Amino acid sequence: MERTRWYKDCVFYQIWPRSFKDGNGDGMGDLWGVLEKLDYLKSLGVDGIWFSPIYPSPGADCGYDISDYMDVAPEFGGMEAFRQVLDGAHRRGMKVVMDLVVNHTSDEHEWFQKSRRRIEPYTDYYIWRPAKPGSGLPNNWDSNFEGKAWTWDEVRGEYYLHLFAVKQPDLNMDNPLVREEVKKILRFWLDLGVDGFREDVITYISKKEGLPDDHLFPIFKGMAHYNHGPHIHEYLREFQLDVLDHYDCFTIAEAPLVWPKQALRYIDEETGQIDMMIQFQCMCADCLFTDWMPTKFSLTRLKQAFSSWQEALDGRAWNALYIENHDHPRIISRYGSEKFWKQSGKMLAVSYLFQKGTPFVYQGQELGMLNWRPRSPEQYEDVQTRWQYEHAALDKTPRQRLERLWRCSRDSARTPVQWSDARSAGFTTGTPWFYVNPNYPRINAAAQEDDPDSILNFYRKAISLRKSLPVVRHGRYQEHWKASGQLYVYSRDDGRQRLLVVCSFSDSKVLFHAPKGFDLGKAKLILQNYPEPRKAVLQPYEARVYLWE
Ligand code: GLC
Ligand code: CA
Repeated sequence: MERTRWYKDCVFYQIWPRSFKDGNGDGMGDLWGVLEKLDYLKSLGVDGIWFSPIYPSPGADCGYDISDYMDVAPEFGGMEAFRQVLDGAHRRGMKVVMDLVVNHTSDEHEWFQKSRRRIEPYTDYYIWRPAKPGSGLPNNWDSNFEGKAWTWDEVRGEYYLHLFAVKQPDLNMDNPLVREEVKKILRFWLDLGVDGFREDVITYISKKEGLPDDHLFPIFKGMAHYNHGPHIHEYLREFQLDVLDHYDCFTIAEAPLVWPKQALRYIDEETGQIDMMIQFQCMCADCLFTDWMPTKFSLTRLKQAFSSWQEALDGRAWNALYIENHDHPRIISRYGSEKFWKQSGKMLAVSYLFQKGTPFVYQGQELGMLNWRPRSPEQYEDVQTRWQYEHAALDKTPRQRLERLWRCSRDSARTPVQWSDARSAGFTTGTPWFYVNPNYPRINAAAQEDDPDSILNFYRKAISLRKSLPVVRHGRYQEHWKASGQLYVYSRDDGRQRLLVVCSFSDSKVLFHAPKGFDLGKAKLILQNYPEPRKAVLQPYEARVYLWE
């Protein structure tokens, strides 16, 4: 079957279900809540929803620890509610994409329970190793969340590998039976009517034979031996040929450490096995590799990340565009300014929505939600944050340690969506499962709905402009004023239309000249975040989009 590339015309919205909207009053977001908000999503102009995991799960990593791949958790509404959401989305012309988390399962998954007891055929479904003399650990690898990557299992009398939390044992993808299970899962959801998959840390699924010690980097030990591992393309090809190619679906791969050249091995439209990639470079303009190693924000780093992907993929592969998701603190609090909340929220939208690719908007981003900053470290829920708090930066003062969490934690962006100024931000009629950001009386959807100047309505406008202009889909991308540490300026050109996008990342005024060949006198200003722009001077966090046609 010839797969169409419908995803190139889509704008996706990411739902992190626990905090999106509670429909039954038990305090936990669910699919009934999603049903209530489908029209809202439609009004935003999105044509697709990516659901972070909604499967049954003990919740050790908020659903990324799955105990049953072919069901929907009862607290989210079960299969019945899911069918309604799928149908409701499709009737409104919106696609639905599931999160496929197959690098690991929950330790409570039946496969693991049987594997640890050596019940066939599950004995080799996971990566088991006997204790080694000395420390006992089979190798020196670190997990991404909780210390070393190995945990001793009393039942089996062996260590198992977990690249994430202790409760997330890694599957042994070298076992053909495990790959068959993955294909069953894919078929199950595709047959039900879903439109694609976001594939969680999929570049980790093939580990180097022999699981050797890693002596390459002082941090992320092991990564050199499991990221983009030896059989990765072969396994992805197998999923593609055996399953995905038989459906009109698409896939997007999460890839923690990847550069454009390497990405093309996955997503080249002629030879790839995947359609798009979630790279992390655009999230590293104010940190080194991970949010947990913060640095000062550098616009030139951000521009370099944006432009290198725009340029390298041009004509060969398709970009996924995003500036927020459930794994990173809120973008205004990072790359923008809480002081210039509205201006910088709108400017950040412009900075990525007019690039070439398929944009993703993370729940609450369209409202300009900000980082959550609790008083006490005890309030954090996230497994990674808790480990960081207990084991890292121990020499710092309590205040510094708390501020580190504010700045780095994923929980900063996982508070309930702020729907109104009612109790609990209108997220639930009950007691919310997690803390609501106390700024909700000021920042909420209801207040922004009828305000033509709101961030929400700006997103609506930007998305609809994006869709109405062919140049945004096809046009060539070019960056201007590359050396500027304050301005991000790029153009798009398809031979008929030209766009010039101007974004100031400065909190003070900046002088601006249009690049050569762009006569502003002949252009139409189609989007702006200040009422009366002055040609040669940009206000703090000002953004403009000019069109020539
Ligand atoms: C991905 C997910 C993240 C999760 C991790 C382990 O990075 O986005 O939320 O914790 O994988 O599944
Ligand atoms: Ca609920």
